[in-house]
Amino acid sequence: MSTLLVEICLGTSCHLMGSQDIIDAIESLPPDKRGKIDLRGVTCLKTCRKGPNARINGVVLSEMTPERTLAVIEDNLP
Ligand code: FES
Repeated sequence: MSTLLVEICLGTSCHLMGSQDIIDAIESLPPDKRGKIDLRGVTCLKTCRKGPNARINGVVLSEMTPERTLAVIEDNLP
């Protein structure tokens, strides 16, 4: 089964700006969706000032919220 690679920045700056809330939102997805997501933490995506940052399918996205992250995931699920 193919999966969508979702990397969430766990660096200090992004953590302080709420990256854990994004991870919690992804972890709370129903199993059919959660099972299609390869969720990983990364240390820093080098765009700290625009956090929290995520990289979804290799594309760095800045100023993410849980809602926006879930919307992007929804649009890109395999
Ligand atoms: S800490 Fe997240 S981009 Fe640097």
